[in-house]
Amino acid sequence: MVTASAPGKVYLFGEHAVVYGEPAVPCAIDRRARVTVEERDDDHLRVHAEDLSLDGFTVEYGGRTDANPDVDVSQSLVEAATGYVDAAVAQARDAADAPRAGFDITVESEIPLGAGLGSSAAVTAAGILAATRELGADLSATEVADRAYQAELAVQEGNASRADTFCSATGGAVRVEGDDCRSLDAPELPFVIGFDGGAGDTGALVAGVRELKDEYDFAADTVAAIGDLVRNGEAALGAGDVAELGQLMDFNHGLLSALGVSARSLDSMVWAARDAGALGAKLTGAGGGGCVVALDESEETETALRYLPGCEETFRAELDIQGVRVE
Ligand code: PMV
Repeated sequence: MVTASAPGKVYLFGEHAVVYGEPAVPCAIDRRARVTVEERDDDHLRVHAEDLSLDGFTVEYGGRTDANPDVDVSQSLVEAATGYVDAAVAQARDAADAPRAGFDITVESEIPLGAGLGSSAAVTAAGILAATRELGADLSATEVADRAYQAELAVQEGNASRADTFCSATGGAVRVEGDDCRSLDAPELPFVIGFDGGAGDTGALVAGVRELKDEYDFAADTVAAIGDLVRNGEAALGAGDVAELGQLMDFNHGLLSALGVSARSLDSMVWAARDAGALGAKLTGAGGGGCVVALDESEETETALRYLPGCEETFRAELDIQGVRVE
């Protein structure tokens, strides 16, 4: 039996634009997904999953993604959770050259599902490392990152960048531009996260931006403007200029709103954070619902979000320099 864990992440800058080759800077945070894997003596998968936004469920099936598990939670949540686990298992079977390996798998996550904090990348990266280790194979963090990206591509039908998976596998602040992935030095960043209790549909949101960009020049220009902003953000990160990082996060949120991926709940959390004196605030991840990230060293933003109707949960987070690891 092997347990591996991997961190979630926030996007400091660049989500959506990264899908079209612009750079993005995600940062791993100290909230992790843990995946425990034990090989079975048949080729079935049994998946038990629990996270912040689920009461927990167990499914057992014959290792096929099209199996229809009989469980008492919404089918889309089950598909979301098991889709990434299935894809991770497929990568591990391939890496360890064990195409018929079956597993009992337990997923425990401190990261809400589909809320822009990289739960799927964390579960996928931890699942790949745990399952390959259980089969006696050893992968480096960058090999896990690459396989986790292939898994996300398969689940998200081609709509994925390397940003989430590379960040979760290697930890820390990273810069991703197309296939070029590298780690960045970063100062301490006082992240405050607000969660509206909901989730966005990453595939649909990415497809929406793609359509907008194909139809309107302003949308293509907005994507390019996000790329410019990220380059400024990298310089501010290198200089340790947290005030400028905050300002650029505000601009980035505005540009994401222009692309139609914000939501009333996200905008009201962003404004509550700004009114409370945060250095900056923006949605993180695909949008449509889920989480915002703000920078604030004081307690003010957390307090404002705690009392904001529509914000279900708020917590502080720190940059986590530890990527995927065996526990
Ligand atoms: O919401 P998340 O954590 O799945 O992040 C999605 C980020 C996008 O840039 C919208 C898509 C991607 O794969 O980069």
